[in-house]
Formats: sequence, C-alpha cells, structure tokens
Amino acid sequence: MKALILSGGSGTRLRPITHTGAKQLVPVANKPILWYGIEAIVAAGVTEIGIIINPETGDEIRRKTGDGSRFGAQISYIVQDQPAGLAHAVKVAQPFLGDAPFVMYLGDNLVQSDLNGFINQFKTQQLDALTLLKAVENPSAFGVATVDSQGRVLQLVEKPKDPPSNLALVGVYLFSSAIHGAIDQIEPSPRGELEITDAIQKLIDLKNPVAAFRLEGWWLDTGKKDDLLEANQIVLDAFPNSTMLGTIQGDTRINGRVHVGKGSKIINSTIRGPVSIGENCHIENCFIGPYSSIANHVYLLEADLEHSVVLEKARIEGIHQRIVDSLIGERVTLKAAARRPKALRFMVGDDSTIELTGL
Ligand code: TTP
Repeated sequence: MKALILSGGSGTRLRPITHTGAKQLVPVANKPILWYGIEAIVAAGVTEIGIIINPETGDEIRRKTGDGSRFGAQISYIVQDQPAGLAHAVKVAQPFLGDAPFVMYLGDNLVQSDLNGFINQFKTQQLDALTLLKAVENPSAFGVATVDSQGRVLQLVEKPKDPPSNLALVGVYLFSSAIHGAIDQIEPSPRGELEITDAIQKLIDLKNPVAAFRLEGWWLDTGKKDDLLEANQIVLDAFPNSTMLGTIQGDTRINGRVHVGKGSKIINSTIRGPVSIGENCHIENCFIGPYSSIANHVYLLEADLEHSVVLEKARIEGIHQRIVDSLIGERVTLKAAARRPKALRFMVGDDSTIELTGL
C-alpha cells in the first residue's frame, strides 16, 4: 500500500496566513499540520508516500518536510499545476501510484485515529473505496454520504444545500486502483473541479464495493482560524507532560503542562499550561494562558495572551489588554507605545481581521 497526501490547493479560507505560506505547514502545538498526517500514515506501516504540492507553496513544503527520513518514510513530491480538484490530484499522481492500493489523506486535516482499523476493513472486505465518515452539525459544508445498515455507501454529494444525512466525509480515504478508471469517466463539476465524490459515486454506480468507516475520535478540517485554534486546543490537551529545554529567570511561574524549546528565555512571566513554546523565544513580563502555542523566534515583551497561536518571528510588545482567540502570522509586529494608547496605528496586510472587543 502507498499513501498520497494532498497539499496543493489554494488555501483561500486561511488568508492572509496562506498568502505567503502553505496552510498545511501552519503549526498546531508547534508542529505542521501535514506532519501529523505523515506520522499517522507511517504508524499504520505505510512508508511510500507521495505528496501533492502546488507551484507556489510546494518548495516550502519540500524544504521543511524533506525526503521522509525523519519520519522513517520515503517521500516523493508531485507537482499539480492548478488546484483542479481532489480527483485531479489523484490523476496527476497516477505514475507514482501505479496499480497499488493507497490511502489518500488531505494535508490540511487533523484526524485523531489510528489508521489500522480502517486499513484492515479495506483489506478484509476487498473494497475499491473506503471512506471515513463523521457525524457533523453543518453537513452542507462538506461532502455528505448516505449509508445503508451494513455500512455500504449508497450516495455521495458534495456540499449539498439540502443534506441527505449528517455524515460528512473526513479527509482520509482508501482506494484500490479501480479509482483511476472511475476518474477517467467523470467530468469537472459546476465549480470546475474534478471531484473525488463524483469518482466514488461512479464506482458505486458501476457496482464496485464502496463502504464507510465511522470515525469515533475527533477530526478537524483546519481550513479556518477557529478550526485551527480548536485543533491547537485539542492537541495541547493531549500533551503528556512538561519539558523545559530553555531557561527561566526572575520571578517566573510555570503551572500545568508547558513545553519550552531550546534557547528560549522566560523572564518574570507566568505561563499557565497547556502551552507550547518553540525555540529561541524571548518572553519577558508576560502572562501566557492555556491553549497557546508560540512558534520559534517569537519576541513577547509585556504581553498578555491566551488561547492563541503566534507564528514564527512575530513580536508583541506592551499590549496589556488580553489577546484571546487570535492567530498572529509570521513576522507580525503588535506594539503599544503607551499604556493607554490615544490612537491606533495599523499597517495590516490584505484579508486580515482586527477586532477590538469589549468581551
Ligand atoms: P480544500 O481545503 O478542499 O481546498 P483548497 O486548498 O483549495 O482550500 P480553500 O477552500 O481554503 O481555498 O483542499 C483539501 C486539501 O487538498 C488541501 O490540503 C489542499 C489539497 N488540494 C490539492 O492538493 N489539490 C487540489 O486540487 C485541491 C482542490 C486541494
């Protein structure tokens, strides 16, 4: 069995964070989302992995993720010129996949599950497609399945206005090589994409065996800010224990599970876990509250934040109001020149959101 991870796409929903970077590399608890998928695939014993990348963000994914040796896998990168759909990505990867069965994993999804049960069902039932389903409150935002009492998939529809069930397709699938023939027989959808749901529906119409596996654990599609903050919270909640690789100075208090990376300095600050702090950060006179992740080389001076994700090289200085539920991008500066500022001065990139809340 091989694996195909889809890490191309356009990432419009996480703008502006994804104007410059790949959304699959946005960190959750200081680890890129994509790496959780790679680790789950390797843990299920699949080590030949192809990653679909696009021409804009592909180099960054390739540079950071490497040839797979750090995961105990061999990774090949496959460029998809345009985000022409999930089934299109499979088509582009055909030379890599050959006739092998494969697990397809969406690189911006976080799934809490061991893939072994899923792979076993696929093998023992000799299926051509196995989809992973999860009951959700807003099925219209997803691909939705209708399933019979034996778990066979009867029908799939992409983002239906009137959903036939509340079972959404989670971003993990298993396919035999029969999917390639099905993709050859479908046309682009009204939004101009070759849809994987249409290809699976084609298998169902041709009477190929297609089944569903119900996911019991959590699943997050990290396409949007609040989903990303939720993913960060869930992963930090599962943090096993504290690790202190940096240094602590002055009157610093650390409570709960807190990870501090090499070279980071915490001075006169309170950190209340679960919190993950990367490498070479400077944190002085700050309060960092639960469910915060601070990436490498972040500089925080007199800042107060919780339930937030701060990306690499950001600087926050002199903001005494608590920063909550925030995603602060790479190299962003937030600075207050006075304790009670009389004016606000901004230089904010396209698609940014700033909320001064009375919460
Ligand atoms: P989506 O989130 O469905 O699409 P997108 O990346 O275009 O995002 P947005 O809606 O924010 O604009 O994609 C799911 C995953 O599949 C994601 O990791 C990107 C990847 N993908 C490809 O690799 N090729 C494609 O053609 C598409 C549409 C997505």
